[in-house]
Amino acid sequence: MIHIAIDGPAGSGKSTVAKILSRKLNISYIDTGAMYRAVTLKLKDFDPKDFNRILSETSIDFIGQDIFLDGKNVSSEIRSEEISRLTSDFSKIDFIREKLVDLQRKIAEKKSCVMEGRDITTVVLPHAKYKFFLSAAPEVRAKRRYDQLLEKNMLADYNKILEDLKKRDENDMNRKNSPLKVGDDVTFIDSSDLNGEETADLIISKIGEGHV
Ligand code: DC
Repeated sequence: MIHIAIDGPAGSGKSTVAKILSRKLNISYIDTGAMYRAVTLKLKDFDPKDFNRILSETSIDFIGQDIFLDGKNVSSEIRSEEISRLTSDFSKIDFIREKLVDLQRKIAEKKSCVMEGRDITTVVLPHAKYKFFLSAAPEVRAKRRYDQLLEKNMLADYNKILEDLKKRDENDMNRKNSPLKVGDDVTFIDSSDLNGEETADLIISKIGEGHV
């Protein structure tokens, strides 16, 4: 089995690159951010005192690259700016992280995959053979998010996206539980001047060299 773990901030190109890697290497792609987003979508209208119970009755599955929440495909719904903002806070909650980390490890036990998120190289799969941290300048990352939303015909305001993205970076890097950080033994890649294909090829070449 082969496991490729990728961490990095919002808009660093992780999902684009992970999708390309999954296609080129013929292994599954696990988007852990989508799992936090799906849980947020489910819990956002409930009282926090009921979160634990509701979560224990919630199912999250991937079929190909689509994510299903309690059997419903929520792949598009979880991408709104509202869910992006709320997820940054929901993902700080300990028992949500415990449940999802457990689920992510179980998925990886069963199959080869490229898994991306914020704590994959540090917490979820610290023993993965191939570990990468992807980053890019905040302005480049905000522009990528902006273009993604336009592509999906969703409303987008570049300045608001940049502002939200900086707030989320701050939130993700400074939370107590599993903050986003560059682990000691990861290969750091700055993708500011690279597109998805180029970044994926760089990763494949590093895997091939065997020194990651
Ligand atoms: O990668 P993304 O933008 O879809 O992630 C959404 C949010 O989920 C983001 O604020 C960070 C959080 N997240 C996390 O805390 N741990 C992960 N492994 C993946 C995402």
